This record gives sequence, structure tokens and C-alpha cells, in this order.
Amino acid sequence: MKKPKHHIFVCASFRAGGDAQGVCAKKGSMNLLQYMVTELSDRGMADCMVSSTGCLKVCDRGPALVVYPENWWYGKIENEAMIDEIIDSIESGVPAEKYLIAD
Ligand code: FES
Repeated sequence: MKKPKHHIFVCASFRAGGDAQGVCAKKGSMNLLQYMVTELSDRGMADCMVSSTGCLKVCDRGPALVVYPENWWYGKIENEAMIDEIIDSIESGVPAEKYLIAD
């Protein structure tokens, strides 16, 4: 496998030694992850990889995801239209400011 140019980590709310507890999974983050995988494929963005990850510790701003190497942290991503905008941001190289977690 070639190393991805962009790696997107979507919070699945897992905590070490326990089940998913945080808000991201409860708010459907795994459905959004699946949508993102499909949309990236449809757009031919084979240089992007998507992974689920444990709690990103920004639960009050979930569902959360982070895009590397850009280090763009996005919060309150709750529907497919928002995922589309985030993918647009990766394509353009310009972050979707309105969803960025500032600190
Ligand atoms: S459960 Fe997603 S940031 Fe904590």
C-alpha cells in the first residue's frame, strides 16, 4: 500500500479498555465515515485514507474528525453535506473554517 497524502481520522468514541462512550459514535460518526470513504472513492481521491480512531478528547464538539498532515480539527460534523465540504477543503487545500475547532 502506498502511504496516503491525507489521512482523516474520524472519532469512533472508543476509550482504552472500554466501549464507545462519547458523543461522536452516538451521533452517527461511523455512518459519516462510511459516507466519506464512498465519496472519496467517487471523486477518485485515492491519496486519502480514512480511519476510525478513539476519543479525540473534544467530545463537547463531536462528532469530530482530524485531517493530517494539515492538522485540521473539525467539530460538530453531523451530516453528509458537511462531509462534502470537508472533502472539498482537502481538494482545494483551504480549510472549511466554519467547522474548524480553534483550540
Ligand atoms: S467521543 Fe469523539 S471526541 Fe470524544
